[in-house]
Amino acid sequence: MYTIVTTAILLIFLTSGHYTLDVQFHSNTPDVIPKARTSKGITLKVALYPFLPDSAGDNFANLTRFIREEFVKVQPDIDLQLRPLSQDADFYSLATLKSWLLSNGEGYDIVEIDTVLLGDVVNAGLIAPIFPIPDNHSDWHPTAARAVQFNQVVYGYPHLMCANFLFTRNEQVAQVKTLDQLIHILGSTPTDKYRLIGNLNSSWDLPGLWVNSYQNSNGMGSDVQAFAVHSYQTTSFESMRKLSQLCERSGGENYCLNGVFRNNATMIASLFATKQAAAMIGYSERLFLILKNTQPDDYLNIKIIPLTVGSVDNQPIYFTDAFVFRRNMSDDVANAARSFVEFMNTPRMQAAVVGSEDSINPKLRYLLPVSRNAFNEPILANDRFYQQYFRNLSVGYPFTTLGFPNARQDIQKAIYVDKVDRLPGGFMNFTCRIHFKTELEHTPSEKVDGADSEDCVSSLSNRTSNERSTSPTATETCAVSNRQHEIRTG
Ligand SMILES: *[C@@H]1O[C@H](CO)[C@@H](O)[C@H](O)[C@H]1NC(C)=O
Ligand SMILES: *[C@@H]1O[C@H](CO)[C@@H](O)[C@H](O)[C@H]1NC(C)=O
Ligand SMILES: *[C@@H]1O[C@H](CO)[C@@H](O)[C@H](O)[C@H]1NC(C)=O
Ligand SMILES: *[C@@H]1O[C@H](CO)[C@@H](O)[C@H](O)[C@H]1NC(C)=O
Ligand SMILES: *[C@@H]1O[C@H](CO)[C@@H](O)[C@H](O)[C@H]1NC(C)=O
Ligand SMILES: *[C@@H]1O[C@H](CO)[C@@H](O)[C@H](O)[C@H]1NC(C)=O
Ligand SMILES: *[C@@H]1O[C@H](CO)[C@@H](O)[C@H](O)[C@H]1NC(C)=O
Ligand SMILES: *[C@@H]1O[C@H](CO)[C@@H](O)[C@H](O)[C@H]1NC(C)=O
Repeated sequence: MYTIVTTAILLIFLTSGHYTLDVQFHSNTPDVIPKARTSKGITLKVALYPFLPDSAGDNFANLTRFIREEFVKVQPDIDLQLRPLSQDADFYSLATLKSWLLSNGEGYDIVEIDTVLLGDVVNAGLIAPIFPIPDNHSDWHPTAARAVQFNQVVYGYPHLMCANFLFTRNEQVAQVKTLDQLIHILGSTPTDKYRLIGNLNSSWDLPGLWVNSYQNSNGMGSDVQAFAVHSYQTTSFESMRKLSQLCERSGGENYCLNGVFRNNATMIASLFATKQAAAMIGYSERLFLILKNTQPDDYLNIKIIPLTVGSVDNQPIYFTDAFVFRRNMSDDVANAARSFVEFMNTPRMQAAVVGSEDSINPKLRYLLPVSRNAFNEPILANDRFYQQYFRNLSVGYPFTTLGFPNARQDIQKAIYVDKVDRLPGGFMNFTCRIHFKTELEHTPSEKVDGADSEDCVSSLSNRTSNERSTSPTATETCAVSNRQHEIRTG
């Protein structure tokens, strides 16, 4: 019986996208967890990923309560303890995850991580493979299903996804596929207005866009992103230079680069919402902030396409948040864990979380559900953006799950700190404007200075002083605040 199921799953996978999967599924137990098997008094401790729009404006208090109340209806015997969602917690630090995913059960049983960390978390020995293979695998977006695999083993249950998009009201912009086409169209927009807005001053976002660009310029090979992450020294950052130039305005301001946008995500969204910018770069959930600030007619006018930063196409590159399990769970805890993640992945709960069912006045969060059936749930079925744009997205690629956290600062530095030209006019003249040479002369041994905000100041005032290193703590603090303030926050 399970052979048939496994074959069916494989067939669905094989026919669903660019990837040929050769995953060894360890499926040898029944498809559905018998509820009776979870004995009374099981406690399950879960840390949910906190970077989603706080659409109820209550620090997610209702969201955790809603999830608990719904879960107790189906699993009354499991005492579900949810960590209060806090964007101050460092979900991107391996040290934090080490202290949370303890094999003796004294931390959390389940942590929802960004799979950009998955390979590193597996290599650190923090999590257990998942088997049997989840029941509703076939309902998952195929890219999310790939994002939770490492070394051909499934290590997580995908929960939500997001990707970088281009938001616009312009019909022509909404048709473009490549960066050059975008430049061609936006080229005629006067530079006293904003042509393109978004944050490029970040050691997460900018290298992330570079990986995106590299994939979209080099086709569909499975090693493309690995090359972007690990062999970037030998490549050209021309696309990043072109992208950042679209942000330049007359007078030399470049808010994408100089920190103005970095420190104020609301400003980006409200410039777009008030129609002062032709196009905006952002994650799907940024739509929440836009719609909060915009006129009602925009609900019909805003168009969304996967970001165009490559020279070939604009296949979306997805980030995935996934539930991972600590090692050494007892059978009871493992069963409880499994029933929780399967509950969270039901179409109804997927739609409820992204659709803000926890709020009395639901404003959708615009994260992407991994459940394809979730798009049929009433709360999403009636939303133009989910139906017109997000449900039709092509399969695309999962963002690489290994090595990016370690490489991102080197990549950022290679993109701009190493390439900075001292400009006459000093700091405010195109603050650290990206001025690339076509080929990099990157020196791999150079120390990376994690404090992004200081990099350019020091490199402008004295190039060599930039090569000092800062403490890991400063680096991590900076990384956290990047994610918090610029990337995923609503
Ligand atoms: C595994 O869990 C049991 C309790 O369930 C505990 O006694 C044991 O120390 C744990 N092993 C490790 C390696 O943490
Ligand atoms: C990035 O922003 C910070 C302010 O947050 C600024 O000090 C720094 O110079 C900016 N980096 C670049 C490359 O302009
Ligand atoms: C961010 O931008 C918004 C809108 O432009 C503005 O109202 C707000 O004061 C800014 N916040 C900060 C901290 O600069
Ligand atoms: C699996 O998906 C189907 C269809 O979306 C749904 O009805 C069912 O409840 C799901 N099962 C589990 C265990 O999540
Ligand atoms: C939180 O949920 C309760 C109960 O459904 C509701 O009364 C309250 O208005 C909600 N709060 C927000 C901010 O939506
Ligand atoms: C997406 O699909 C829906 C229905 O499946 C269709 O109405 C809509 O026009 C499509 N949108 C685009 C941009 O193709
Ligand atoms: C800014 O730098 C450019 C070179 O990129 C230079 O031509 C221009 O004169 C400078 N502006 C000021 C105000 O110094
Ligand atoms: C930069 O630092 C070097 C020493 O590391 C020094 O020789 C040079 O004069 C400094 N340049 C400026 C412009 O301060």
